[in-house]
Amino acid sequence: MRIDILTLLPATFAGVFDESILGAARRSGLIDVRVHPFRDYGEGRHRTVDDAPFGGGPGMVLKPGPLAAALTALRQDGLPAPVIGLMPQGLPFDQTMARELARLPRVILVCGRYEGFDERILPEFDLQISIGDYVLTGGEFPAMVVVDALSRMIPGTVGDPDSVREDSFYDGTLDHPQYTRPATWQARGIPAVLRDGHHSRITDWRRGEALWRTAAHRPDLFRQLDLAPRDRALLQDALSPLTQSNPDKGA
Ligand code: ADE
Repeated sequence: MRIDILTLLPATFAGVFDESILGAARRSGLIDVRVHPFRDYGEGRHRTVDDAPFGGGPGMVLKPGPLAAALTALRQDGLPAPVIGLMPQGLPFDQTMARELARLPRVILVCGRYEGFDERILPEFDLQISIGDYVLTGGEFPAMVVVDALSRMIPGTVGDPDSVREDSFYDGTLDHPQYTRPATWQARGIPAVLRDGHHSRITDWRRGEALWRTAAHRPDLFRQLDLAPRDRALLQDALSPLTQSNPDKGA
């Protein structure tokens, strides 16, 4: 997958995609991330990309002309791709969106800055994305978040495909609790089921815990789940005082 990022602050991205899973995916050619300086498309000797808002008010607004020129150039260079603007008024970014975008051969991410884009350029965007209900100084960190989340969804980037399927949000639930050695730490043990080597019991326990955790921490997500009768039984088990495996339950 190719990801083009248009930004006024290209240096922000230096090194960010070099490490860990993302770095390996880039080196193996699974993702091709290209950062393009927006300033290159600015107008006049000063490469101007912004101006004061009509009607007054604080800050600067990104001019439509440079963005249109940049998008024309980017579209001509490679496969057709949706243009995605990172901005606070966009659609909330979530795992479903990450999974769907990761199926595309290419996306173009446009990072906003200042007071945002001139409204007349917005029809150029195929999608506007927000990473949360807070305002950042620009779209650079959101673009990094989007690239990271997308790259995990590209087959081959994460070594073990099961680990993606078991991620929080992948199937609409939060992830189940995890434990590692030592089995006893500061007098706190681990659920016995994880030590008896019975694979299907472990899978069931994890599903019950994931459902319980989702119900407790994210009732909004829980309400959207379409629970099978087996899920209801596993959730019951997770809630049962006899299986007090998770001190977080406060039981
Ligand atoms: N730019 C500024 N704030 C943002 C947000 N919350 N999401 C995406 N882009 C942004």
